[in-house]
Amino acid sequence: MRTCPTIASLGRALSAGAGRKVGFVPTMGFLHEGHLSLVRRCRSENDVTVVSIYVNPSQFGPAEDLGRYPRDLRRDSALLRREGVDVLFTPGDGEMYPGPYRTWVDVRGLDDKLCGRSRPGHFRGVATIVLKLFNLVRPQRAYFGQKDAQQAIILRQMARDLHLGVQLRVLPIVRAADGLALSSRNVCLSTADRRAALALPRSLQRAAAMIRAGATASSDVRAAMVGEIAREPLLEVDYIAIVRLRDLEETDVIAAGDTLIAVALRAGKTRLIDNLLLGELSC
Ligand code: PAJ
Repeated sequence: MRTCPTIASLGRALSAGAGRKVGFVPTMGFLHEGHLSLVRRCRSENDVTVVSIYVNPSQFGPAEDLGRYPRDLRRDSALLRREGVDVLFTPGDGEMYPGPYRTWVDVRGLDDKLCGRSRPGHFRGVATIVLKLFNLVRPQRAYFGQKDAQQAIILRQMARDLHLGVQLRVLPIVRAADGLALSSRNVCLSTADRRAALALPRSLQRAAAMIRAGATASSDVRAAMVGEIAREPLLEVDYIAIVRLRDLEETDVIAAGDTLIAVALRAGKTRLIDNLLLGELSC
């Protein structure tokens, strides 16, 4: 594995693999099995696997956890080496945002909903850094997690709108044995908060069971989810949304193939998201 801390060294590492299919997994590090599931799929479908680790400051709000975001580059490197990754890109802020920086990507109408409402500017930061990384890595395929479904939907729209010519693969949510979706931020949860947080996957399991049993009214499913989460006083709900996949607009009727049921909440200081996807996000 070649570790490239600069754009110049990344360019040299990629020129060695010219003509071969490049797959790319962008991350912010502190890797877990969710990230590694993307890396494994990428390895199996491409000649060259590139992973980036960059905690992108522009996707964090001023009051958010940029300073507290967990990092462990040595451990991440060892994990990626073991997975057979070819190139690890680990740029610093000076490489990615040489000042003065003025160019931003807004995916309008998708970036102000759900998480975008409580994290203004977040998806502008995500779309911008991912476009910059795509321009540097020039992958044929890029791998993302359904865990961040809105992010995947926004990036898919960006790829279409800007003719990026990159295929996006969106892979299922990897969970801990108790059902909690894996997240780099889970280490920030206290034992009590972690236990309370299980109401989040439980609420989605409840929704899935209702839908399997024939429920189609969003109001019924949402009420059951609210009830499940309300039983945990340590949790503070940001949103429970039942939306159409294509435009993230709220829908009264749950349609197989075009619905996302997404939840965001706070347990202590930690923000957690999870979702149930009825449809396909890859393109
Ligand atoms: P990060 O949170 O590190 O996530 C990197 C990728 O791993 C994302 O595509 C995310 O959806 C996926 N992922 C996270 N948890 C997962 C889980 N439990 N199961 C499956 N996949 C999971 O998302 C980002 O970084 C950043 O916004 C980034 C795209 C790198 C831009 O800065």
